[in-house]
Amino acid sequence: MIGKLEGKIAIVTGGTSGIGLATAKLFASEGATVYITGRRQAELDAAVAQIGNATGVQVDSSKVEQLNAFYERVKAEQGRIDVLFANAGGGSMLPLGEITEAHYYDTFDRNVKGTLFTVQQALPLLAKNASVILTGSTAASTGTPAFSVYAASKAAIRSFARNWILDLKDRNVRVNTLSPGATRTPGLVDLAGPDAAQQQGLLDYLASQIPLGRVGEPEEIAKAALFLASGDSSFVNGSELFADGGQAQV
Ligand SMILES: NC(=O)c1ccc[n+]([C@@H]2O[C@H](COP(=O)([O-])OP(=O)(O)OC[C@H]3O[C@@H](n4cnc5c(N)ncnc54)[C@H](OP(=O)(O)O)[C@@H]3O)[C@@H](O)[C@H]2O)c1
Repeated sequence: MIGKLEGKIAIVTGGTSGIGLATAKLFASEGATVYITGRRQAELDAAVAQIGNATGVQVDSSKVEQLNAFYERVKAEQGRIDVLFANAGGGSMLPLGEITEAHYYDTFDRNVKGTLFTVQQALPLLAKNASVILTGSTAASTGTPAFSVYAASKAAIRSFARNWILDLKDRNVRVNTLSPGATRTPGLVDLAGPDAAQQQGLLDYLASQIPLGRVGEPEEIAKAALFLASGDSSFVNGSELFADGGQAQV
């Protein structure tokens, strides 16, 4: 059977863990040549070993010069990008009253600056009919205690997609936002700290808030990413696709 991404060049930023790793595996299994990025070399090596048909490159998405060097390499090796999944991101929790400049910059640099320059610096390489997938969150559409800076950074992502489809009007490039709800990843469970019982407590609490009665698995978000990456979504542009078990829909 021919894969949905046969012959495609796909980039997954933050591809060493959670949603990014599951998506990189799925894209590779659907025939794509996959590049993953992340800041930690050991995690990149481990992820590449799991994915198989992938190249891991150490890139901090909030550093423009590192993104430029990465895209120079992709240009030399592949000449183009067909799928760009700007997935790298994350956040931590602090309530209003305790928010620091460091917390603000860490969150906005990773999510907003990182996504902006991940896409902008890739523009010369984006092929005709390329699909750009930004990573939002249900947190942008709902309220969560102590999560306002992260939520605001993800609201910016949704806004980027609406505006960039106009800037890219004549490029035949689609831009969509994929917004996961609570998904069982290292990035999510680490919010509860290192204690396993507290991590399970967080997952149980989040599951109780979701109409489907459970948190999502990274592989389920990966399937939504595959839809947006492939020709199956050829007329879907500027949208926000929620994969959240109904969490932000009620
Ligand atoms: N899990 C959820 O419940 C959930 C819900 C909604 C949205 N999301 C979003 O989905 C995306 C993936 O989340 P996840 O839960 O899968 O997180 P995760 O398990 O923590 O994985 C995050 C990945 O991004 C990389 N990364 C983080 N900052 C980076 C940077 N500045 N430059 C390059 N790579 C970076 C990490 O590797 P290094 O640390 O080595 O760089 C890792 O590969 C994030 O944008 C997150 O906000 C997650």
